[in-house]
Amino acid sequence: MKYYKNYLLFVVALFCLTQCKVSKQTIVETTAIATPQIATVLNEGTIATDAMVSCAHPLASKVGIEIIKQGGNAIDAAIAVHFALAVVYPSAGNLGGGGFMVIRLKDGTTNTLDYRETAPTLADKDMYLNSEGDAIAELSQYNRLASGVPGSVAGMFEAHQKYGSLPMETLIQPAIDLAQKGFQLLPIEAKKLNENKADFIKYNEANNYLVNKEKEWKEGDLMKLPDLGNTLLRIQQKGKKGFYEGETANLIVAEMKRDNGIISLADLKQYQPVWRKPIVTNYKNDYKVISMGPPSSGGIALSQMLKMLANFSLNEMGVDNKNYIHLVAEVERRAFADRATHLGDMDYWNVPITELLEDEYLKEKMSDFLLSTASPSSSIKAGNFSVKESEETTHFSVVDAAGNAVSSTTTLNASFGSKVFVTGAGFLLNNEMDDFSAKPGAPNMYGLVGAAANAIEPGKRMLSSMTPIVVEKNDGLFMVLGSPGGSTIITTVLQVFLNVVAHKMTLKEATDQARFHHQWLPDKIYCEPEIFNGPQNAELSKMQHQLEKRESIGRVDAILVKPNGMLEGYSDSRAEGKAIGYTK
Ligand code: DON
Repeated sequence: MKYYKNYLLFVVALFCLTQCKVSKQTIVETTAIATPQIATVLNEGTIATDAMVSCAHPLASKVGIEIIKQGGNAIDAAIAVHFALAVVYPSAGNLGGGGFMVIRLKDGTTNTLDYRETAPTLADKDMYLNSEGDAIAELSQYNRLASGVPGSVAGMFEAHQKYGSLPMETLIQPAIDLAQKGFQLLPIEAKKLNENKADFIKYNEANNYLVNKEKEWKEGDLMKLPDLGNTLLRIQQKGKKGFYEGETANLIVAEMKRDNGIISLADLKQYQPVWRKPIVTNYKNDYKVISMGPPSSGGIALSQMLKMLANFSLNEMGVDNKNYIHLVAEVERRAFADRATHLGDMDYWNVPITELLEDEYLKEKMSDFLLSTASPSSSIKAGNFSVKESEETTHFSVVDAAGNAVSSTTTLNASFGSKVFVTGAGFLLNNEMDDFSAKPGAPNMYGLVGAAANAIEPGKRMLSSMTPIVVEKNDGLFMVLGSPGGSTIITTVLQVFLNVVAHKMTLKEATDQARFHHQWLPDKIYCEPEIFNGPQNAELSKMQHQLEKRESIGRVDAILVKPNGMLEGYSDSRAEGKAIGYTK
């Protein structure tokens, strides 16, 4: 990273003079850095010269930055953040889930790690259907049968083995400290725990630390997680065997046997993360987007959308304009139609990646696009998009002092996953099996439909929408970006990317900009209130679009390399995360 300290001092002086209003992220976290302290202009996120971590919980961002200050690289920091989030952000941070990691090293080498869950050996194509052949959502979304074999712990060891520099024990220790000594609850996290209390009691026999039987959780309450601390200690001492074999594995299987679960000791022992070839797409010559291929749909769908948009003058259209929203929604609709039919785990299904990304094919897909009118999805059976606000995933972005970058998205699927705790081990299990297509055309909890490509098979990975990306500009690191949000992840990442690249916004502005989402089925544009309540609603309705309000779409944690070489980090104002920077 370049140094512009005189410039920075000038900005600090300007900042003090103007006494501008300081939001939660307009100055660098002072505890995390040495001098000089850097202030930014309004509408920028956190600024630092050397390193940045942005994630869903300030304590986990701090863990990541401390690892970098100890000499760790971005991969070390990402691993430490993952374990810390498993403690302080239990609704999505996890040991019992999975995810994807996109890595770009300082020399430009890129790689992607798939640590997605797998279907257990006893899984079956029809396992969530009743005797009439209807999909039973409760079976794939709650309780023990909803869980895939967790991939997160193996994923962290795999990333460390290939790219880590500090010992794994050092990277796990901060999470152990947080679990044992406790941490204070943030307001939204306390609220989520209270909202899920009834489910925690319904699906668990044993007492659990996350359930406050006496009263409601509130902001500032101290939460200690001793069983989770012990599980992390076993992982620290025995490596991934501390999770996939021995005591922890026995506790997971015992938990399965309390009800209808099917994950076996053999499933756990056999779990393997996979390094996969990144999906790389150029956008307007200058930009290269490095993303995740199947079993995530994110990279292919995002690349399709960027290619379909490449020939339009987006900047001239304006980000709030009805024509822009219409165009982007139409492109989203077309990409999601392909997602439903063609995408699934490549180890089990032949995904036509080259064909899906061919320029000619995408041009043809846009040939029926009308500037003035929506193209109906109505010829195909509609999904039922009944998304609850409780869904949850988490994304984090890391850039280290050498310029290595990690973009990682991880999840239990729904908020707190299957709601089932592994008794004695202190962590929650995922309900990722719901991301499979339980039956062709039957919508999952995100209203997404699928077919044979994403049917359940033993050992197969369920299709994901997680879209961690790293972007290059003129061959240098430009942006690290990702979000939670189920199916809206892909459209959130697309829109924040376009807001920066086409609409020339700062990262903070690009992230705070209102978002919208179309996923082919159901045939509607989901919009945040600013759009839904704005003039665009009537204008888009006239173009035959149906709009539906969503309070919040996605929660971005991202890092941007500015033209002067400095890093801008930003954690979405829709949530309570934080970007923390480091300036040597
Ligand atoms: O992999 C997927 O696409 C989903 N399991 C992600 C779930 C999610 O993002 C929930 N979000 N907020």
